[in-house]
Amino acid sequence: MIFYFTGTGNSLYVACEIAEAQGDKLYSIAALMNNNESIYHFELDDKELLGFIFPVYAWAPPKIVLEFINKLEIIVKPAADNDNKDIKLKPYIFYISTCGDEEGNTEIVIRRALAKKGLLLDSSFSIRMPNNYILGFDVDTKEIVEKKLKDAELMLKDINKAIGKRQKNIKMNIPGRLPTLKTSLINPFFNRFALNTKYFTVNDGCTGCQICEEICPLHSIKINDSGKPVWSKDCTQCLGCFHRCPVNAIQYGKKSEKKGRYHHPDIDTLERRIKEVQNNR
Ligand SMILES: Cc1cc2nc3c(=O)[nH]c(=O)nc-3n(C[C@H](O)[C@H](O)[C@H](O)COP(=O)(O)O)c2cc1C
Repeated sequence: MIFYFTGTGNSLYVACEIAEAQGDKLYSIAALMNNNESIYHFELDDKELLGFIFPVYAWAPPKIVLEFINKLEIIVKPAADNDNKDIKLKPYIFYISTCGDEEGNTEIVIRRALAKKGLLLDSSFSIRMPNNYILGFDVDTKEIVEKKLKDAELMLKDINKAIGKRQKNIKMNIPGRLPTLKTSLINPFFNRFALNTKYFTVNDGCTGCQICEEICPLHSIKINDSGKPVWSKDCTQCLGCFHRCPVNAIQYGKKSEKKGRYHHPDIDTLERRIKEVQNNR
């Protein structure tokens, strides 16, 4: 059982690669959270996986991911071929973060969030992938994007091997410099002041294609009577609308016009594949 959140497809790509190699099911955290349940109840057996895959936002997991974990109730049952009824039942629990550069103390934050639900994190992994954060930065150059995607593919092979063997205590993390300062001091500011839509605008280039409305994980975008997107308040800052507008008509603040756009090259195919699997469930 693998739960994922994504804005521009990096984490979706990783989630699909892991689910396919491990023969496991994927669940979208955004889709589940849109149901607004107070508890998300899942049952799995002790041979199964419990995985979380998500991007890093301001040196921590996205708020929506932590809120989801907080609402999780996992019931573990013995696998059919488990005759040792004495051992404490526990699935193999891992997370994989995707980040442009560094994840700060994401490992500590996730470990604590899971511990509150009685879940012990077994191993953690972080993969550098193309950066989609454009405030104060820009997207990576074409060469860096290609290199990061190639390196990620190789790294995923190792991660899949480790997960397949249920290897514990692996900490393939990228905390970077001053992780405590960034995660404990800057991240709360980000969650308090940045999770809104007030800086999103659309210019005359908008064709009213509705892609932004369709892909917004929180369903915060509606196309108005003039065929232009209008944002409601809720936002995770995934920047999917900004990066995936086919005519670059969506802007974020004054400086974004000069910024590049990025989404994972296979995002459309991956999304289609996910929809097909879900329709067949
Ligand atoms: C709001 C926001 C904050 C981000 N903060 C960080 C960060 O603290 N460290 C980092 O290395 N990358 C950061 N990034 C980059 C993303 O983590 C990275 O590009 C990720 O792979 C995007 O995943 P996705 O395509 O699944 O949405 C940030 C991106 C966004 C949109």
